[in-house]
Amino acid sequence: VTVAEVRERTLDELTLGSSLSLEELVERSALNEMAKSFHQLFGVPLRIFSDAGVLLADVSVQPAIYEYLAENHRRAKAALQEVVAGVKRVDPGPKGEAAYNCFTGAVYHVVAIQYDGRKLGRLVLGPFLPPTVKEIPQTLLAVEPEVDVAAAKELLFRMPRAREETVRQIARHLRGTLDLILFSGHKALLTSSMHLASVRESFRDLQEKNGKLQEAYDKLKELDRLKSNFLATVSHELRTPLTSIIGYSEMLAEGIAGDMTSEQKDFVRTIHEKGEQLLELISGLLDLSKLESGTLAMRRSEVAIDALVADVVQTVSPTARKRGVHVASQVDDALPRLWADPTRLRQVLLNLTDNALKFTPPNGTVTISARATSVDVAPPDDEGGVVLLRSKQAAIELRVSDTGIGIPDEEKLKVFDAFYQVDSSSTRQVGGTGLGLSIVKRLVEGHDGRIMIQDNKPSGAIFVVTLPCRRATLS
Ligand SMILES: Nc1ncnc2c1ncn2[C@@H]1O[C@H](COP(=O)(O)OP(=O)(O)OP(=O)(O)O)[C@@H](O)[C@H]1O
Ligand SMILES: [Mg+2]
Repeated sequence: VTVAEVRERTLDELTLGSSLSLEELVERSALNEMAKSFHQLFGVPLRIFSDAGVLLADVSVQPAIYEYLAENHRRAKAALQEVVAGVKRVDPGPKGEAAYNCFTGAVYHVVAIQYDGRKLGRLVLGPFLPPTVKEIPQTLLAVEPEVDVAAAKELLFRMPRAREETVRQIARHLRGTLDLILFSGHKALLTSSMHLASVRESFRDLQEKNGKLQEAYDKLKELDRLKSNFLATVSHELRTPLTSIIGYSEMLAEGIAGDMTSEQKDFVRTIHEKGEQLLELISGLLDLSKLESGTLAMRRSEVAIDALVADVVQTVSPTARKRGVHVASQVDDALPRLWADPTRLRQVLLNLTDNALKFTPPNGTVTISARATSVDVAPPDDEGGVVLLRSKQAAIELRVSDTGIGIPDEEKLKVFDAFYQVDSSSTRQVGGTGLGLSIVKRLVEGHDGRIMIQDNKPSGAIFVVTLPCRRATLS
């Protein structure tokens, strides 16, 4: 029986079945220890056999008389072998005890080891010599008539002497001790089996749950993909009629279709304005779905940062003036050029500046700054292991800082989610749909860059965008 097999046993087998064996319940070393201490106490040789006849513990020495006979007398030697085999065969019977007499006058006491009504093995005490034996017995002489009686007697009497009653008591003692050992062994076996069973059970449970999670995850992913597809199609299809609406309202406003009253002009202007807003929203959605599906084409070229920043400042200054917010820029000299999509980069800066203006009260300041920095580049095949070669790469750090309401720490990650707005109440002062930052983040990542939010002192937010000058990976 291997350890694995024991472990595979069910609890029923361990508690009710008859498959228990002595070796499983008690370690051999423990049995040997016990046998040794009994031998030391009582001086009687002792052996323990499993039910299958395997010798599990042995504290016995060959008696001198046996050695003498085996060496000098052929017939006695054969008879002794018969004794050894006979002792092994002795059935302790329903009483659980039986004696076996050797022709030398020595006696063996065989005791059944039982546990919980199951036969587990046998204990053999002996050979020992009862005090009643005072001469070389007739049985020995019958086997070996020529034996040197004086010599044999001297050797025979060296055998441990004990009364049978004493040996029986020792045996009872031993059985008591073994019972205890077996009980605790059985308990330990049950406990560990139970533990194993419960571990196995919870493992199975976990596996099942894991499978379900994976299923749910796959489903969600598929749904997400469908959503992106849907968004892309819908926004694309909405754009065409919308451009018509915008175009025609523009023409109406210009009087191409004839003069209009001022009220009509007002209405048409509103149509045009709302149409533009709608178009922006739809373009955002389209961008987002393209970014999500990775189909947004990047048209990279050499980008000069100073010109880009100047352009953005110029673009937002009318809005800034309207809101009474000051816009400043601070671009370091001789910045390296970026290998990037200029339109997308402009979109990033415009979105960030637009936010900054939106969330800064009048008299505040929005600053766009750029400086040179460097980023770590991991080797292309780096998979999170130990990175031996990490090279530095030139990069540009863009900052859009404001003196506005700022962003609480717990919102700093969430604001990059699509449609997420810190204040989404209907009483919100400013417009927007919450798409800007999610697009910005994806665009930045599309350039192998990073974006994060810092606090401005004493108030306001700083959006820090770091972009490597070249592509970090060669893919
Ligand atoms: N500079 C800022 N200061 C304070 N809060 C900000 C700032 N920038 C963004 N936020 C918060 O993050 C939210 C998400 O910004 P995001 O640009 O994604 O959406 P939006 O500006 O509300 O709408 P959209 O950009 O689609 O017109 C904002 O609604 C606002 O709550
Ligand atoms: Mg925005």
